[in-house]
Amino acid sequence: MDFAAKIRLIKDFPRPGINFRDITTLLQDREAFPKAVDAMAGLCRGIEVDLIACPESRGFILGAPLAYAMGKGLVLFRKPGKLPGKTLQYCYQLEYGSDALEVHQDAILPGQKVLLVDDVLATGGTMAAAVELVKQSGGQVAGILFLMELLGLGGRDKLGNHPVLTLIKCDA
Ligand code: PRP
Ligand code: MG
Repeated sequence: MDFAAKIRLIKDFPRPGINFRDITTLLQDREAFPKAVDAMAGLCRGIEVDLIACPESRGFILGAPLAYAMGKGLVLFRKPGKLPGKTLQYCYQLEYGSDALEVHQDAILPGQKVLLVDDVLATGGTMAAAVELVKQSGGQVAGILFLMELLGLGGRDKLGNHPVLTLIKCDA
């Protein structure tokens, strides 16, 4: 299936000059969405995984079905103030603005192999923060998985030597 063709491009959102890749058109397609999840799971074959973790909010859309399909637990990296227990926090820069992610401090056990999942790799700021939270937790990053990679923004360079797997690649 041509997954890239299922993603809509919206020019000048959220600011003039930014080409926004809108995944809602893929998600609302009842054939494309499950096939994309299965294809993403297929990319991870051969990687040993204990847990899947994903950043709020669009990461949840893909992390949850992947955890179900792969038979793994799911850890949520949430925006500040949302998690009820004790948390670890990491602040990061976005393509437009800044933000922070938190994880329950007991969600990832030392030594656990974590597959990180998000919808889009752009500048890499969000996923670099997720990598830091896995490390702060004492876990290991087994791999980093995206539905889509925007090329030319240097995102991969922020993610160290971890395996980075992307289903779709397109120009930013
Ligand atoms: C978007 C997207 C990725 C991130 C990619 O999330 O879902 O998480 O940006 O950009 P980066 O590689 O430059 O960090 P956003 O922060 O817009 O929030 P959302 O997931 O809650 O929509
Ligand atoms: Mg996001």
